[in-house]
Amino acid sequence: MSVSGSVSALGYVVARTKDLSDWGSFGPGLLGLQRIDRSRTSLAFRMDDRKQRIIVDADGGEGISVFGWETADAAALEALAAKLESNGVKVTRGLCALADERRVRDLIVLSDPLGNRIEVFHGAEIASEPFAPGRSMSGFRTGPLGLGHVVLNVENSETIQQLLPFYRDLLGFRLTDYYSHPFEAFFLHVNPRHHSLAMIRTGKNAVHHIMMEVFSFDDMGQGYDIAQRDGRVATTMGRHTSDFITSFYTFTPSGFMVEYGWGARSIDPNSWQAYERKEGPSMWGHDRAWLPAEQQEAARKLRLDNAAKGLRRPVQVMDGNYHRMAGVCPWWDELRDRRQFG
Ligand SMILES: [Fe+2]
Repeated sequence: MSVSGSVSALGYVVARTKDLSDWGSFGPGLLGLQRIDRSRTSLAFRMDDRKQRIIVDADGGEGISVFGWETADAAALEALAAKLESNGVKVTRGLCALADERRVRDLIVLSDPLGNRIEVFHGAEIASEPFAPGRSMSGFRTGPLGLGHVVLNVENSETIQQLLPFYRDLLGFRLTDYYSHPFEAFFLHVNPRHHSLAMIRTGKNAVHHIMMEVFSFDDMGQGYDIAQRDGRVATTMGRHTSDFITSFYTFTPSGFMVEYGWGARSIDPNSWQAYERKEGPSMWGHDRAWLPAEQQEAARKLRLDNAAKGLRRPVQVMDGNYHRMAGVCPWWDELRDRRQFG
């Protein structure tokens, strides 16, 4: 999947926090992550067979301090380091102690043009014990798709134009799509996940959210109930026009959000053509309480226009995760044949 000298997935992140105890209950109790104790000032979470995916560092700050991007193997890491250096990017070798801390075989450290700390690694350690979710849920869709995606707030168009060439030409991301209304946004992929990285123009530079995708539609809905109970819903349940995921957003104890979703489509990176997406971010739902009132209204109008135009897409399911209903409904067959559905 990965092109030599490019990253292949979002491997891990390090979140900063003032409140480790809040993460200790939010991570397992709402998200379903498996808590791994590390020290008095940090914790880590598993979400699959790897020893850790999310690290939380109680350094008194907020946001994400490290974005860990994965490469296929040592050769891909070397090729990428050489490419970065020959393009004038300062690359530091990760020491053994850092590799141990990150639970990876080897890594390099660099900064993106905004100063975000990037670690590129290979050889994530696999745990001997199976993943045990923090609440009753079926698990996370990760593997070659990575832990999910990350979306960055960026200040203005110039910032986007600084970041795009770095991620595209140096780290090997490819543009999936983009739009300009109700805010400017660019979506980039490195594997069949529609986007592993996106940038949205909001007037500030900070991480906006990370996305985690669960196996079962009900894992997502049950998480929504918990988020509502705990007053942590940031964006109501809705469905994206990008990856067709059904999701909601929840506030983390680190000042950014987690998008918690089910049913994202896979794209074919070899044949995908980037395009301007005119439908806005969501087909329905996703009421964004964090947007200024005017933009919130514009986003609602876009969704209602989408609805009026009949924007609908089939659900995206994995083998074994659906039950095909027996019997035939002539009205449905007629609708499907007229291609009025997706
Ligand atoms: Fe997202």
